Amino acid sequence: MRTSFPFVNRVRRVVCKPQQSRVISPVAAPWQHLRVVALRHTSTRPCQDSGSSYVTTPIFYVNASPHLGHLYSAVIADCFHRYKLLRAYDSKFATGTDEHGLKIQQAAEAAAKDPLTFCTNVSGRFRHLFNSCNISYTDYIRTTEPRHRRAVQHFWSLLWDKGLIYKGSYEGWYSTQDESFLMPTQVADALDSSGKEVKVSLESGHKVEWMKEENYMFRLSTFRLPLLDWLRGNPRAVQPERFHQAVVQWLQEDLPDLSVSRQRSRLQWGIPVPGDPEQTIYVWLDALVNYLTVAGYPGGHDRWDGVHHVIGKDILKFHAIYWPSFLLGAGLPLPKAIHVHSHWTVGGKKMSKSLGNVVDPLERSRTFTTDGLRYFLLRQGVPDSDCDYTEDKVLKLLNAELADSLGGLLNRCTAPALNPGQVYTRFCSQSFPREPGGQAAAEDYRMLSSVRSLPAAVEQHFESMHVYKALEAISACVRQTNGFVQRHAPWKLDRTDVKEQRWLDTVIHVSLECLRVYGTLLQPVVPEISDKLLRKLGVAKTARSWADINFLPRFQGLDCPREGRALGSDTGVLFGRLERQNVDSHKPKKNKKASKL
Ligand code: MSP
Repeated sequence: MRTSFPFVNRVRRVVCKPQQSRVISPVAAPWQHLRVVALRHTSTRPCQDSGSSYVTTPIFYVNASPHLGHLYSAVIADCFHRYKLLRAYDSKFATGTDEHGLKIQQAAEAAAKDPLTFCTNVSGRFRHLFNSCNISYTDYIRTTEPRHRRAVQHFWSLLWDKGLIYKGSYEGWYSTQDESFLMPTQVADALDSSGKEVKVSLESGHKVEWMKEENYMFRLSTFRLPLLDWLRGNPRAVQPERFHQAVVQWLQEDLPDLSVSRQRSRLQWGIPVPGDPEQTIYVWLDALVNYLTVAGYPGGHDRWDGVHHVIGKDILKFHAIYWPSFLLGAGLPLPKAIHVHSHWTVGGKKMSKSLGNVVDPLERSRTFTTDGLRYFLLRQGVPDSDCDYTEDKVLKLLNAELADSLGGLLNRCTAPALNPGQVYTRFCSQSFPREPGGQAAAEDYRMLSSVRSLPAAVEQHFESMHVYKALEAISACVRQTNGFVQRHAPWKLDRTDVKEQRWLDTVIHVSLECLRVYGTLLQPVVPEISDKLLRKLGVAKTARSWADINFLPRFQGLDCPREGRALGSDTGVLFGRLERQNVDSHKPKKNKKASKL
């Protein structure tokens, strides 16, 4: 029996008799070379940095407005892209909307709109959210664009020419909400909101329907072993580890061929099958090809090699089984990594319209600021497991880490009372010598060593998209620097004493250097706050890359180009403290139906 996904909500399981999901058997075997093709991709040699990078978000369904979970996928990918730019990569970052399929067709019907007008409207809402939240995509794709239709039809024809698609018939369960075909073992009995018995998907809990129709099948079964080879040869192909294991586990079972079209009479809103206008291409095949469309497919898609996909755990099967199989079939390189994240719940419950707990990220970003919301999502979001969103957590985290800790540190070091000249003060190597002996304490040396090793640690966490770990490390260093300032209380030092004045300047210089490192490393996460911080320190835009970090050169006996320079003009409070009453007044209102539940 097929193993159900280990990380999905469980519903009552029903024992069904196995159903035949396909009736036409393959006639020839021109695809049997595929194992060899796959092995070519399984090299264990680490990929060299090519100086170019391509990261994607999933493309978002336009049947409903964007919510917090959607923004989360986008913010993770945005952070990776911005990080790559800081590393001087030529980085490309794609996002967009998934506009075809039954679900969208039905949503447009329900709204009494023609499908394209409906899609254009909702797609615009996603784009507006992303623009407002500084999601710096380089391409925003819509699957209704002509360039995408060309790519999908070309891709289909290629698979057809290779004998990987055949005409057959499908009989089995289908979830329109997930646009997914399910095995009988992936279906359970449940009651709908009116108490009626229905069948639902074990994975998502969404209602399923029995479907029987003539359509085209993709020889997915042929790819089970090549996929296993790929995953075993590339243990970091799917991250984090538990999701990699889940995919390997699924592949222990039979992999049935996949229906890749629907009858036009049922599904009009989609791309027609080339040469057969009676059939519409399955929305997941259509949607997955968006990644290639953006890369320029079918011509000049040389940027394709080495893509990083960011996805939520609910769409793992499509990205780690279907997509690599399609790519292998088409003879194209496989993704470099599929980065999976878990979901946001709200007050411990799945976000849903009927519960009235859907968090509108645009509205929340007005309360918490864009950077505030980005920081919260990336600091609290742990890819391995679901995370709960509560207003209280956001408020406490942002006040503690952005307003008090980071903002407080900047304030102290740039306050005219301590730094009347408003300059990057001078470092005195007698006060803070390389070997202990001056005025610095043992903890101060430990602090320097933590900050020195911070960029390498952050690099590693950004590379694996474990942003929360990077932020944890930065936050710990900010605390250490605050401790350093507190320990030496520069406000108590006697400015008329030359030695004390030198030490005061040194304490400020070291703190400003720490702040410069934090500001530089935080750019991918909170671009506006970082900009404010670095402007206040007088760091030019051209001196904010990874290569510019070079922490505290004076401690190494080297020159510091910043020493003695004027600080930037006043940039205002780094992050204003949030007051509970202002936050609460923006809470989403629960609808009546929800409060009854
Ligand atoms: N259209 C497909 C993806 C096609 S990609 C070729 C789709 N769209 S979606 O709009 O339903 O979901 C988009 C992304 O949002 C997915 O990565 C999904 O996991 C993520 N999220 C949806 N709800 C979420 C939460 N509650 N929390 C975090 N992310 C969630 O699937």
